[in-house]
Amino acid sequence: MTADTDQDIAALKRIGRICAHVLRHMMKAARPGMTTGELDDHGRELLSAAGARSAPELAYDYPGATCISVCPVIAHGIPGDHVLEAGELIHIDVSAELEGYFADTGASMCVPDRNKAGTSPVAPEVRRMLEATRAALSKALAAAQAGQPLNSIGRAVELEARRRGYNIIRELTGHGIGHHLHEAPGEIWNFPDPRDRRVLQEGAVLAIEPFLTVGQGHIREMGDGWSLRTADNAPAAQFEHTIVVTRGHPIVLTL
Ligand code: CO
Ligand code: CO
Repeated sequence: MTADTDQDIAALKRIGRICAHVLRHMMKAARPGMTTGELDDHGRELLSAAGARSAPELAYDYPGATCISVCPVIAHGIPGDHVLEAGELIHIDVSAELEGYFADTGASMCVPDRNKAGTSPVAPEVRRMLEATRAALSKALAAAQAGQPLNSIGRAVELEARRRGYNIIRELTGHGIGHHLHEAPGEIWNFPDPRDRRVLQEGAVLAIEPFLTVGQGHIREMGDGWSLRTADNAPAAQFEHTIVVTRGHPIVLTL
């Protein structure tokens, strides 16, 4: 959607803040010994306490309030009886609706050690990949300026990924969002497509989500009909924010 009134922006900020809050609390709650289903229940309670509805349930009858993907699954992982382990790389995606407006955010993390609060036995190569993916997202946000080619987002992501030695999962993309979870202007690639002539419009509401991997960057669908894993089982990471495009730095709704 194009946010062209103060009311639009205010409503988008409300649902953006809720998604950010739920993601942050789920990341804090993730513990070894907990199942992904229990972590999702926590997310569901937080969403409903805020009066919001899970977007994937609402839009796609998805079997969970949030998506929780355990490496090598990187997207649309179904919360269930998987028991989290210390150091395990997981991805949590929270998208929700309030008053007819949608926001979408996500983050990768390693499950912390049960005994040492706040510390996490993260392998250095995984930490580097998480840093690179976060950096790719912030470069993409800085590139998302009204009047620029939409391609500048993908160009920024690809440049940062290459510079740091990672591949992009090209099949997974950002998207327009606002009155629906996925809407115009459609897919936002994490690489520049030379045939893409779209220009970033002021007020455009976009979900930007680079996916980086140490592997080849191809994905496979799992037998459950939802989960997407890397074809080579390589670790991958994603960070996602929903933004409103302006003439300067975008308004980041999911901080
Ligand atoms: Co998402
Ligand atoms: Co998204």
